[in-house]
Formats: sequence, C-alpha cells, structure tokens
Amino acid sequence: MRLDRFLSNLAQFSRADARLLLAGGRIRVDGAAVRDGRCEVREFSRIELDDQLLQAGKPARFFMLHKPLGVVSATCHPEHRTVLDLLDEPDKHELHIAGRLDLGTSGLLLLTNDGLWSRRLTEPRSRLGKVYRVTTEQPITAEYIEVFAHGLYFAYENLTTLPAELQILDSHSALLTLHEGRYHQVKRMFGHFQNKVIGLHRERMGPLQLDPGLAPGEYRALSAAEAALV
Ligand code: URA
Repeated sequence: MRLDRFLSNLAQFSRADARLLLAGGRIRVDGAAVRDGRCEVREFSRIELDDQLLQAGKPARFFMLHKPLGVVSATCHPEHRTVLDLLDEPDKHELHIAGRLDLGTSGLLLLTNDGLWSRRLTEPRSRLGKVYRVTTEQPITAEYIEVFAHGLYFAYENLTTLPAELQILDSHSALLTLHEGRYHQVKRMFGHFQNKVIGLHRERMGPLQLDPGLAPGEYRALSAAEAALV
C-alpha cells in the first residue's frame, strides 16, 4: 500500500494531515525519513511519526528445508505428512511454500510469510533458474538438449515451455535448469521421450542452493543476507 494511503487510513489523520506530515519529513519507514507519499509500505515495514510508533512491522521469515521423499508440499493434507509438519516454529501456518515439489521429489524447498519474495523467486519473468538433478529409466541422449532448449508444447495448458538447459552427467542422469514451474514439468519433459523419471531432486532456486549440511527433513532459517539475494 502507498504510504500516504497507510497514513490517511489511520483514524487520527486526514489526507491533508498525511500530506503535511510527509512534507515535514516527520515520517520514517524502516528508520529513514520518507517525504514521498507514493512510497510503498508493507506489513513488514516499521513506520514512525517522530518518536511515535505507527506500525511495528512484522518480521519477514524465510526457511530452507531439505524436503524428503513422501512428504507433501502443502500446508495440510488428509493422508500424508506435510512439509509444515517438519517445522518446529511458532505461527508456522502463516508460512507458504515458494515453489512446490511433488510427493516423490526431494530437495530444496523454501518457505516464507513474504508473498512478494516468493513471487520474485517463482515467477518466470524473474528468470531465476531452478536446478533439478534428474535420474531416468532410459538413457538420456544429446537430442534432449536441443529439444529442451527449444521448448516443448504442453497441450493441456496450450503453452510452450521456456528454454531450459540440460547438462548430461552420465547415461541416466542430468542437471536440468528450468525458469518456470509447470505441473509435473520435469517428468512431462522427459515423458516427451517416453523416458520415465525415477529420481528427482531440486538442488537450487535462483541464488539459493540447498545447504549440504541439511539431511532430508531438516531445515534452517535463511540469514537476512541470503534472503536479500532474491
Ligand atoms: N517437476 C516435476 O515433475 N516434479 C517436481 O516436483 C518438480 C518439477
């Protein structure tokens, strides 16, 4: 929300008051004086008038989890354990998942209460690569590289996948970098070649790599510096 709107929504200020306070340099957002009412503020912003606290700003929270196989990427599920069940954190139901993984996929899963952060991480126009280690039933051939780079037509969604980079590691395994997250995307891409994915593990999302110190099911908070990379 715009700062001028935030101020005039408070019972004690009219729109004219808000303009005056801003023009007088009396409003601080996250410690810095702000005179421009168009400045965007969020529930995480600390907003002060002189020495008076108008909004404390709730803490933004970020976690990296090593998702194990057989745990569902949802906040609740009738049958399976969910990734939230693995977190021992207060108010964990305020968190959401930034980029789900299938039940049978392991690896890096990020959780946050900051919707803008998760959108930046997952939306295709951010161009942040998600790197998957893929193991297949049949051999992977060099032909896949060109087909994936070119994009594959998904009839159900009527779209062509964005260029993806494939690095073949050995006859049956590869690293695949995607810039979007379509339903079962990796499996469907290999399915184009009738090649079944038998192992799938996400190693990286944009600048964030799965911490090798985290065993499956373990998690840790991201540092402020790590979260700021996104
Ligand atoms: N693609 C898949 O097929 N599954 C995942 O979990 C992630 C990407």
